[in-house]
Amino acid sequence: MNKITVGLEERSYPVFITEKMVTTFPCSFKELFNKKKCVLVTNSTIAKLYSKVIAAWQQELNFALHVMSDGEKHKTVKTWNEVIDTFIAHQLDRSDYVIALGGGVVGDIAGFAAAAYMRGIDYVQVPTTLLAMVDSSVGGKTAVDHPRGKNLIGAFHQPRGVWADLSFLETLPKREFIGGCAELFKYGFIGGQEIFSFIKNNSQKLIDGEADVLMEGIKKSVETKARIVGEDEKEAGNRALLNFGHTFAHALEQFYGFEGLIHGEALIWGMLCACELGSRNMTMLSTHKAEYRKLLCQLPLPALPYEPEPHLLYRAMFADKKASGGKLRFVLPSVPGKAVVVKDVSEKRVMDTLESVLVKKTSAFLNRSQPLS
Ligand SMILES: NC(=O)c1ccc[n+]([C@@H]2O[C@H](COP(=O)([O-])OP(=O)(O)OC[C@H]3O[C@@H](n4cnc5c(N)ncnc54)[C@H](O)[C@@H]3O)[C@@H](O)[C@H]2O)c1
Repeated sequence: MNKITVGLEERSYPVFITEKMVTTFPCSFKELFNKKKCVLVTNSTIAKLYSKVIAAWQQELNFALHVMSDGEKHKTVKTWNEVIDTFIAHQLDRSDYVIALGGGVVGDIAGFAAAAYMRGIDYVQVPTTLLAMVDSSVGGKTAVDHPRGKNLIGAFHQPRGVWADLSFLETLPKREFIGGCAELFKYGFIGGQEIFSFIKNNSQKLIDGEADVLMEGIKKSVETKARIVGEDEKEAGNRALLNFGHTFAHALEQFYGFEGLIHGEALIWGMLCACELGSRNMTMLSTHKAEYRKLLCQLPLPALPYEPEPHLLYRAMFADKKASGGKLRFVLPSVPGKAVVVKDVSEKRVMDTLESVLVKKTSAFLNRSQPLS
C-alpha cells in the first residue's frame, strides 16, 4: 500500500493506493466519519459490476445509494440536481458525507454536489478508472459540463481522502485503460526528469498494465499532482501545468460533441499537438521533438471519428476555461519532465499545428491511428 499526502494545511488529506483491499475501505470510512449518515454515488455500470462490493459496504455503512446514468453526456446540471435531491431525501446534514465510487464523471458530479449541498459537506473519492486514480480524484476540482463547454460549472472542494484500489482496473475496458495511460503519460511532461525517465523506460509495461510498474506509475503521478496542488490549489500559477495537452483535447471533445472520442483519447492527440506547437513556438529544442513523439506514439493512437476542421477547433478553444481575457493559454513542453505556460501564441502557429497534426493530407500521425473499439 502507498500513502501520499496532499498538503493543504487544514484541508490536507491522504491518497491511499492499494491492491485488493476494497473490503477494508468501510473500516477507514467509519474511522473518519464515525456514525455519520452517507450517500454513495455511483453509476449504472459500476453498480452492476460491483453490486456485491456495494452490498457488503452497505451492510457496514448503511448508506443510501444514488445510481446515476453512465457517460460524459450525463455530466450535467440535471444529473447533479438529482444527486442533490437524494441528499435532501435522505436528510443529510452538514456533518454527513458522500462516497464517490466511479470514474472521473461520477467523482466530478458527486464532488460538486458535496461542494454545493449546504455550502459544502465532506466526501471521499473511490476512483475506479485509471484516469480517476491518477488525476481526477485528487486535487478537489469538481464540475459539470455545459453545452457551450466542458466543466464550465463547478467548484474547488477537496475530498477528505482518496482510496484507489488497483483491483477495480480488472474490469475496466481496454479503451478506458489506455485513456488513463494518456493522463499518466502527461505527468512525464510536467513532473520532472525522474518521472519522465520512468515512463519512457516503462511505457510498454504501463500500457500492458503490469501490476508493479502500474502501481509505481500511479504513485509517481499522484505524488506529482499532490505536489502541484499543494503549491497552487486554485490554479493561480503552476497548477495550470496539469492542463498539458488539454487546450487541444478539450477543443476536440467539444468539436465531436463529447461523443466519439473519450477524454483520454482526445488527450493523446492534444499532447501531440502540444509537442508540435512547442516545437513551432520554440519552447523546446527540436532535438526533443522526436523523443516526445516516440513516447506518445507508444500509446495506441485513436482514429478520429471524422476529419476535424481546424478553424472550428480554434474557435472551440476560446470556450474553454483556460482562455482568459480573450487569450488562449497553452502548456508547452520544454526539457524532458518540464513544461511552461505560454500565453502569446499567434493564431497562425496554432492553426499550422492543428493542420499538421490533425489534417489527413499533412499529418504524420493519422495513418498510424487505430479504429475506435
Ligand atoms: N476533476 C479533475 O481534476 C479532472 C481531471 C481529469 C479529468 N476529469 C474528468 O473526468 C472525466 C473522465 O473520467 P473517466 O475517464 O474516468 O471517465 P468515466 O467516469 O466516464 O468512466 C469511463 C467509463 O468506464 C466505466 N467504468 C468506470 N470504472 C469502471 C470499472 N472499474 N470497470 C468497468 N467500467 C468502469 C464508466 O462507467 C464509464 O463508462 C471527464 O469528465 C473529465 O472532465 C476531471
